Amino acid sequence: MKKIALIYWPKKGNTEKAAQKIYEEFDEGTIDIFTITEFNTAEFSMYDAFIIGAPTMGADSWEDAHKTRWTDFFMRISKAEIKGKPFAIFGLGDQVLYPYNFVDGMIEIKREFERCGAIHIGSWPVEGYDFEESDSVIDDVFVGLPLDEDQQSELTNQRIAEWTALLMKEFSL
Ligand SMILES: Cc1cc2nc3c(=O)[nH]c(=O)nc-3n(C[C@H](O)[C@H](O)[C@H](O)COP(=O)(O)O)c2cc1C
Repeated sequence: MKKIALIYWPKKGNTEKAAQKIYEEFDEGTIDIFTITEFNTAEFSMYDAFIIGAPTMGADSWEDAHKTRWTDFFMRISKAEIKGKPFAIFGLGDQVLYPYNFVDGMIEIKREFERCGAIHIGSWPVEGYDFEESDSVIDDVFVGLPLDEDQQSELTNQRIAEWTALLMKEFSL
C-alpha cells in the first residue's frame, strides 16, 4: 500500500489546522502527519508521496521566524530519497492584505522538491480567489492549494475536500 507523509510548519496556527483537516480526508493507514522539525532524512525513504504545507509570511518574517527551519528541512531533502516521488503543496495566505504576494511561498517548496527530482502534482485553479499577483501562479494555475483563513475561511473545508480527492487520483491511491 502507498504511504503519504504530510509535513507542515508552523505549529498552532492556520497551517496546522489545515494540515489536520487534510490528514483527516485520507484513510487511516495511508497517511502520517509531521511538522518539518519532526521529520528526519531517513524517513523520506519510508514514504511514496508527500504533501507539504506552509504559510506565506512576507520576506522579512520568512527570513526571521521561518527561514532557519525551512532551510534545514530543504537541506535534509537534498540527501533524502524523493527522486521520482510525487509531492503536492498547500499554502496559507491572505489575499486582501497581501494581494501582490498571495501565497508566494508555495513556489519555494516546489523549486526545492523539484531540485531533488520529485514530481509536482496538485495544481489548483485561480478562480474563486481575488488577488493581483502571486509567484505561485504558473501557466494560469496555482502550483498548490491556497487556503485563506483570514478572508475566505468558509471555503476551506470544501476546497480541502476537492483537492484531496484530486490528490488521491494523482497519487493513484
Ligand atoms: C507578518 C505577516 C506577513 C504576511 N505576509 C503574507 C504574504 O506575503 N502573502 C500572503 O498571502 N499572506 C501573508 N500573510 C498572511 C498569512 O500567511 C496567513 O495569515 C496565514 O493563515 C498564517 O498562517 P499560520 O497561522 O499558520 O501562521 C502574512 C501574515 C503576517 C502576520
